[in-house]
Amino acid sequence: MEYSEKVMDHFMNPRNVGVIEDADGVGRTGNPTCGDLMEMSIKIDENVITDIKFRTFGCGAAIATSSMATELIKGKTIDEALEISNRAIAEALDGLPPIKMHCSVLAADALRATLTDYYTRQGHLEKAAALTDEEVAEPVDSEEAREPLHWDDFSRMVRALNSAYPDTDPLDLSTTKLFKMILKLPGFDDNPEVANEEQLEKLQMAWHEVRSG
Ligand code: FES
Repeated sequence: MEYSEKVMDHFMNPRNVGVIEDADGVGRTGNPTCGDLMEMSIKIDENVITDIKFRTFGCGAAIATSSMATELIKGKTIDEALEISNRAIAEALDGLPPIKMHCSVLAADALRATLTDYYTRQGHLEKAAALTDEEVAEPVDSEEAREPLHWDDFSRMVRALNSAYPDTDPLDLSTTKLFKMILKLPGFDDNPEVANEEQLEKLQMAWHEVRSG
């Protein structure tokens, strides 16, 4: 298998390797086809990604694409960074063998996971939810779920979740998934933007308590 000089260079001397200790967002992702892993951490200042580091436990192509991705992402705004596709990363490396193209998806996925964490920490749960394509089950029709619900209706919200999603174990949910499930409750009638992570964690724990009796 032929690798370009750039791929070899980024594999032998990967840029931006490590962990940012006081990161504004951290994300991890795995490649389902091979089990390789990538972790990314970022600093953001006024919507610009000012610093980025990664650690990849994976093949040479994964390391090279992760390294190139961090170079392309650094200095970009969040929206610009999200437009960088895995193909663009591979092209910047003068191409990858087709059988290794799947490795380039790792960095793009890790960036989305990292920005999801950033938005969640900032309390921008709608933006975080928009970045995750986690499937959310349709709520089961129930009286509790149909009643008008606001963020303040804590106990009623817990009862509504419990009756609308009887097959869900709340401990398996990410904050963003729980947020999406609440928005799907037919009675939900509040501003999604005012939700925050702490509130969702409390709801999750209370739901767990109700469920475990
Ligand atoms: S073989 Fe797993 S990322 Fe390349």
